[in-house]
Amino acid sequence: MPQFDETELTEAVVASFDETPDPRLKHLMRELVRSLHDYVRRTGLTFEEWQKAIDFLTRTGQKCTPSRQEFILLSDVLGVSMLVDAVNHRERDGATQTTVLGPFYVGEHKPMPNGADISEGVEGERMYVQCRVVDISGQPLAGVPVDVWHADDDGFYDSQKPSYAEAGPSLRAKFVTDTEGQFAFRTILPCSYPIPIDGPVGELILAAQRHPMRPAHVHFLVNAPGYEPLITHVFIEGDKYLESDVVFGVKDDLVSSIELRNDAVMPDGREAPGPWHLMTYEFRLKPGRGAAPRPMLAVAAE
Ligand code: BEZ
Ligand code: FE
Repeated sequence: MPQFDETELTEAVVASFDETPDPRLKHLMRELVRSLHDYVRRTGLTFEEWQKAIDFLTRTGQKCTPSRQEFILLSDVLGVSMLVDAVNHRERDGATQTTVLGPFYVGEHKPMPNGADISEGVEGERMYVQCRVVDISGQPLAGVPVDVWHADDDGFYDSQKPSYAEAGPSLRAKFVTDTEGQFAFRTILPCSYPIPIDGPVGELILAAQRHPMRPAHVHFLVNAPGYEPLITHVFIEGDKYLESDVVFGVKDDLVSSIELRNDAVMPDGREAPGPWHLMTYEFRLKPGRGAAPRPMLAVAAE
């Protein structure tokens, strides 16, 4: 009858995965056991703490619905999402930096013509977004689909609103780059916003006296055949949460200065509705196998 002390127990559990046929699963499980056991030993985890952790994870799972993924949110606030992103994008070779997809990508967006307004009926300060997609040598890439999405002036995505099913998409669309690799659209200036805090992840954030805010940003998903899909944001310079993003998603190269303009016409030659902001950005793509990331969530709002 084997009897194990603290250290022997770990090695026995690690060895229990020795016959796993899939070598990657075997490696991942053995390392997971070592890390978890080490955590229990280092912290001297009590029965009460272990029970509380089980309860927290149970409630995290129970909070998940087809339109809400509390486990991804937990991964985000623990920095795991950004760490997985970092270890999978170690060599950028001059390509644009990546960041989290986030829970508000709802799958491929409705195609809209270049210059379209994605903010019809939405209040806020007007913004013109003008971008270019190039390869790492600076050559423009034509015909590249680009999904864009961002929050409104109150910090909510369309898919968070009960009206989403009937109202349809707002502040999100797909554009395709022209022969110069350019695409452009009209929208409103997004603001910083809190991640959802009405669940276990919110409890954790409050218990730790962390704030729940993300700095203002626009999401971009650039997916060209023959290139690595680029999932990123462009952040707005000067936002007070750039240094303390709750999901650790900010990278210097992704912060863009937004110009306040008073010109009577926007770059598309059409009339400007008063003062407006100009966001410009150049996305540099790395050669690779193009594959669209799967949306984490169904499109229905809660
Ligand atoms: C977002 O930017 O949409 C987001 C990312 C991670 C967690 C919550 C929201
Ligand atoms: Fe976002």
